[in-house]
Amino acid sequence: MGDDRTVHLKDYAPYPFLLHDVFLTFELHPENTRVESRLQFEHSTKDRDSIDLYGEALELVSVSLNGKALAAEEGYVIVKDSKVVGDVLRIKHLPPQTFTLEIVTKISPATNTTCEGLYQSSGNFCTQCEAEGFRRMTFFPDRPDVMSKYTTRIVADKSTNPVLLSNGNLIAQEELGDGKHSATWQDPFPKPSYLFALVAGKLVALEDAFTTCSGKKVDLKIWTTDKNKDKVGWAMESLKRAMKWDEDRWGREYDLNIFNIVVVDDFNMGAMENKSLNVFNSRLVLATPETATDSDYIHIQGVIGHEYFHNWTGNRVTCRDWFQLSLKEGLTVFRDQEFTSDLNSRLVKRIEDVQFLRQNQYPEDAGAMAHPVRPPSYEAIDNFYSCTVYEKGAEIIRMYETLLGKEGFRKGLDLYFERHDGQAVTCDDFYRAMMDANGYDGRNLFLWYQQAGTPTVELSSQYDEDKKTLTVRMEQQLPATADTSEEKQPMLIPVALGLLDSSGKEMALGRMSEDGAEAVDLGGVTTTVIRLMRKQQTFVFEGIPSRPVLSILRGFSAPVKIRSDRTEQDLMLLLSYDSDAYNRWDSAQTLAKEEILKAWRAGAGKAELRAEFIDAFRKVVADKNADKHFISQVLSFPSVSELLEEVGSTDPTAVFAARNAVEKSLAEALEREMLEVFTSNRSSEAYKVDNEGIGRRALMLTALRFLSSLNKPEHNERALKAFKEANNMTEQVGALRCLCKNDNELSRKALEDFYQQWKHDDLVLCQWLRIQAQMETPNNLDKVRRLLDHEAFDLKNPNKIYSLILAFSRTYTNFHAIDGSGYSFITDCILKLDKSNPQVASACTECFTSLRMYDDVRQQLLTAQLQRLAKEENLSGNVSEIVHKCLK
Ligand code: ARG
Ligand code: ZN
Repeated sequence: MGDDRTVHLKDYAPYPFLLHDVFLTFELHPENTRVESRLQFEHSTKDRDSIDLYGEALELVSVSLNGKALAAEEGYVIVKDSKVVGDVLRIKHLPPQTFTLEIVTKISPATNTTCEGLYQSSGNFCTQCEAEGFRRMTFFPDRPDVMSKYTTRIVADKSTNPVLLSNGNLIAQEELGDGKHSATWQDPFPKPSYLFALVAGKLVALEDAFTTCSGKKVDLKIWTTDKNKDKVGWAMESLKRAMKWDEDRWGREYDLNIFNIVVVDDFNMGAMENKSLNVFNSRLVLATPETATDSDYIHIQGVIGHEYFHNWTGNRVTCRDWFQLSLKEGLTVFRDQEFTSDLNSRLVKRIEDVQFLRQNQYPEDAGAMAHPVRPPSYEAIDNFYSCTVYEKGAEIIRMYETLLGKEGFRKGLDLYFERHDGQAVTCDDFYRAMMDANGYDGRNLFLWYQQAGTPTVELSSQYDEDKKTLTVRMEQQLPATADTSEEKQPMLIPVALGLLDSSGKEMALGRMSEDGAEAVDLGGVTTTVIRLMRKQQTFVFEGIPSRPVLSILRGFSAPVKIRSDRTEQDLMLLLSYDSDAYNRWDSAQTLAKEEILKAWRAGAGKAELRAEFIDAFRKVVADKNADKHFISQVLSFPSVSELLEEVGSTDPTAVFAARNAVEKSLAEALEREMLEVFTSNRSSEAYKVDNEGIGRRALMLTALRFLSSLNKPEHNERALKAFKEANNMTEQVGALRCLCKNDNELSRKALEDFYQQWKHDDLVLCQWLRIQAQMETPNNLDKVRRLLDHEAFDLKNPNKIYSLILAFSRTYTNFHAIDGSGYSFITDCILKLDKSNPQVASACTECFTSLRMYDDVRQQLLTAQLQRLAKEENLSGNVSEIVHKCLK
């Protein structure tokens, strides 16, 4: 097919020119911005006759070559290339060696609703260029392997745009006639176009400073609209922590004298790491105890860190092409995870990350959009800013660390920077630096970048009483995935293993031999990392005095599923005694999963729990020594999507109901304990974001959630009281969420009060929309429909769309209603959104990608809606890629 949009990694070819310097002038105007660009090129290997530049939604005003205006057709043509988003401007008759191009375009930021390129948010100008937004401003070699030095002059009306920002250093400012002024910024570091940024408008800054390890002073500024200026303190604190931590942990120092962050309300994603001018979605910056929850606070700190850390992992060393996205994202997610672990609670963070991965990435791997961490092809690159590229990518980085050790990993990272600073490189380059720095051969580790799907490790063990040996047999299974029909190769899987004796004490692992090979002395350690690299392997441990219980995959040492022959008693022992907190939690997950699946098979509305199950959880709830946040994590059962993966194509609402039934039965059995936990963890102390406070609130709200599932008047009153008395958003919205488990007088009144209290605050209103969108009470779709017309909603604002529409698509009772109403509602929304903002529309299309998980009737209903989408003319490339992959 001539119009096949699929781009393939194997077709990569270097750009045949070097672009040394870029000079940009923006004359800003809402509907009529003039962009002038002067580009200084050099032929790279051999001289060519023509050069291709990319542009999208541009009005081309003029092109000149070495100062001479070119005529259309004779000097340049605009052509189409199915592999290029937008148009190709081909300039002909190039002179040899070096040449200068000058291109003038016109654009209209005010009517640009895509949140890509140059657009307006709350009246201010801002840009989003990753991945291919730069071409929405001017024709350009808009690909990450073209790195240049940028000088940017911004001209704008001074009264409406007193602040003018771009990357690098401010080198000139001018007062012009007609109420205009200008600012010129110069970035000394060569960068690809996706890291360019420009901001202009009415903004105020919170200012601070950081002195780097070598004594350099860096001015820090967080820019926001006047009404939000007292909400950026936490973000500033987080930034300083991030700068310090990157020095302490990795020896990475900041490289300019200025670091700006700009807050915008309309933003498709979380944030963007533009060189020295990060742009953030307001929900990831603004926080006060009254308006932001604990998880908002921790998330803000993590994302401020993430974007800052990109300065080394992403900006100084960038990606050669977009297939390598995980090179920067996987690594930077790993870095932000470590940042949060070091600053807050490592064990809580690890469990959160595993929960996230299982709930979001495993379904992606099992669904229609399955792709390897380094995809070999794509249609719309925006669709690959995925949990697989980000979070599974981070797990690959963590496996390097597990295999090489902390020091070995650091040596590898140092070598990576030493070799590649200032370059645009690939995942292979990262791998090679890691291997070379350690003299390690991890061949089938690289397959993790190339093969999609969540592996299952099947593990069985045998204890020989006479020989005192333990034989552990492991087998890896790599599932078929939607992206390929190719046979998968066994990968290198680090399995961290420990042993407990029957009283729960750690046992030494003794000597180990593998498949009959020489025994290795493990020197009395209690955790060993087994390297599983063939389809099937057997490991023998000698000198084990009694039958042990296996603690498998400690710390979640690889992103796999484990199937083992451990008994329920084994799991209960692990839950109580394992020294590895992740495995204690995971044992509870497995126990809960079994109990839920049992209830699901029984099909009754009420779950009959076994006494052992109740007792195990009673012990957890009553444990006065355990970390409170950890207890609340143990009490959060596996998600429905995880459970669906266990059972395959079935009615999702039945699995959801079984999960609720187990929660409710457990609440009945432990009502007294839950009440005691709830009461003893209520506190009117002033809000503080520390582990203690976060843990206390998490546990208190978890207990309230269980109590609320009983729908008893006295517990509903408790929730209402907690809602009314809350002095912080964590408790206020947490209690509201509990109230809204039931649709009744109390919850309706609380929602109304909440709205009246917060109707001036768009971010809090997102919480309000989300809670209502996610209510699992019957006929909730009517409410969601009404909310679309509510003044709190705004179809132009991505945060609002995610809070109402996307949140609804993640519910069960109503989204999966058997009359298909939920599916057709989402389809209507996608069709509407696709016309204004394709990235947001495609995010809402993701709910279709798990269709094979559901029963036949639902698969048919979903397919009918997908066909409706497929029939639509002018569907964006973003949505169409997902639709066609779902229908395949
Ligand atoms: N690089 C940004 C981050 O990870 C995300 C940019 C997303 N852009 C996009 N078009 N999907 O922090
Ligand atoms: Zn990132």
